[in-house]
Amino acid sequence: MITKRQFLQYIGSVAGAAGVYRSMAALGMLGVSSLTGCSSPSAVSQGLGDGKRVVILGAGIAGLTAAYELDRLGYACTILEATARAGGRNLTVRHGDVIEEFSGMQRVKFDNEAYLYANMGPARIPYHHRTILDYCKTFGVELEVFTNDNRAAFFQAPGSFDNQPVVARQLHTDQRGYIAELLAKAVQRNALDQELTAEDRERLLSMLADFGNLEDDYMYKGSGRAGYQGDHINKGLDGDAMPVEPLGLRQVLGFDKADLWWTLRFSHGINQNPTLFQPVGGMDMIVEAFEERVGHLIRYESIVDGIWNKTEGGRSFVSVDYSYRGEVMESFVADFAICTIPTTVLKDIDNNFSGTTRTAIDEKKYDAAVKIAFQAKRRFWEEDHYIYGGISWTTHNDIQQIWYPANGYHRAKGVILGAYVFGEDEFDRDFALRFAKMSHSQRLEHALTSGERIHPGYRNELEVNTGVSRAWSEVPFQKGSWPSAPVPIEALEMPDGAVYFAGDLTSALTGWQEGSAQSALATVEAINDRVMT
Ligand code: ALA
Repeated sequence: MITKRQFLQYIGSVAGAAGVYRSMAALGMLGVSSLTGCSSPSAVSQGLGDGKRVVILGAGIAGLTAAYELDRLGYACTILEATARAGGRNLTVRHGDVIEEFSGMQRVKFDNEAYLYANMGPARIPYHHRTILDYCKTFGVELEVFTNDNRAAFFQAPGSFDNQPVVARQLHTDQRGYIAELLAKAVQRNALDQELTAEDRERLLSMLADFGNLEDDYMYKGSGRAGYQGDHINKGLDGDAMPVEPLGLRQVLGFDKADLWWTLRFSHGINQNPTLFQPVGGMDMIVEAFEERVGHLIRYESIVDGIWNKTEGGRSFVSVDYSYRGEVMESFVADFAICTIPTTVLKDIDNNFSGTTRTAIDEKKYDAAVKIAFQAKRRFWEEDHYIYGGISWTTHNDIQQIWYPANGYHRAKGVILGAYVFGEDEFDRDFALRFAKMSHSQRLEHALTSGERIHPGYRNELEVNTGVSRAWSEVPFQKGSWPSAPVPIEALEMPDGAVYFAGDLTSALTGWQEGSAQSALATVEAINDRVMT
């Protein structure tokens, strides 16, 4: 059983980056981008499709990627998509959109302006997610920088800092200051003489003085890195300016009660490191770019209810039962299927898969994650706090985060993410489920109350009736946000007869579009290899 801490490392993307990439390489998932030119399925084996038919189940990023690559290779592809839109979890909402959960519909009431949108699914692309970035480059999807780490944002947790929000530059600076001071003391008291030569000692002290901005006596007495006293943070050039008073060491250590140390180093995780990107205008610009190329291959509102491996006259193929707007259609027969349906949904679809495959499908669980967004009357985070993008952090068992938009700076309004909830408590209960079980209006109410702790007056700054929430566990044809922390699912990394499984589920990068795209490319390559031999 994965522990909460392990999970948070995973989402924070520490997940052993080396391990992740090694396992991807083992799965043949690295260097397969068709766009980097080196080992693309398209580049290595052109024209081999020769009209062979592939049915792709699901028009999320994996399905779209597979269709795009197979189409170029000469395969005859059709995507059966259960909903009326492509993109899957890649969901950007704007003025007038209607989004659905099992409990009902929400209409998005943001103003009708291109910059006023919310990415309710994926929202950031790290610089090393080369596959998805290469598709953006090739398709001309314009990118802008997305900010995780903002030193002007806040940390707030009940039980720490007298429940008051603390500005990030202060906590980061004081944490470093005290670590440096204490370690310098240990060195000066010869506590590390076994580990250090005399030269090491001097070098370490010099490093610590710089690391923590210590005084000449190696004491930490505050630092202008945390900002300056007065009504402005940056008086560094003013000789009389005094750094803000540091938090006391015990106050800093008191943050331990909140169990939120990981939020201070969140952006150190390999998948959360700067530079991160977002497509200009919304994450679904990527979906739109794929749709321009393979949209004609998609049959929307086509709900799959049976997947059957068949053999006739020595030829194996796959037959997919589906209905279109409630009408049962003739089964779709193809040489191969690529199934990107989440296991949460797939487990209830009839099939004749092997016992091993079925067990893997049954056992693979999905996390829940919730996002809540509001349109604000004014960009109070910029005007009052000089916050341009980034994240304020608060308690796990609550809204967890407020995200400030990394677009539309200095415009009249803005869409703020009022909650992004994921992770588990010590009993492995998903934090997000608490929100998922609430009605939409209860979710908004809760987000407003909790946001008040970070931004007093929050409710009045927001256009409360514009609130939109997305609980991914409650979404038809999805039933979860991303596959639970990487536990082996070898069975789904292999085809079952003529059916291949793709999506972030079968990649080492679960919860990322990069994983979806890479797994699609690996699947395309596997099918192509099979056709060739
Ligand atoms: N990739 C998702 C995120 O960054 C889970 O939040």
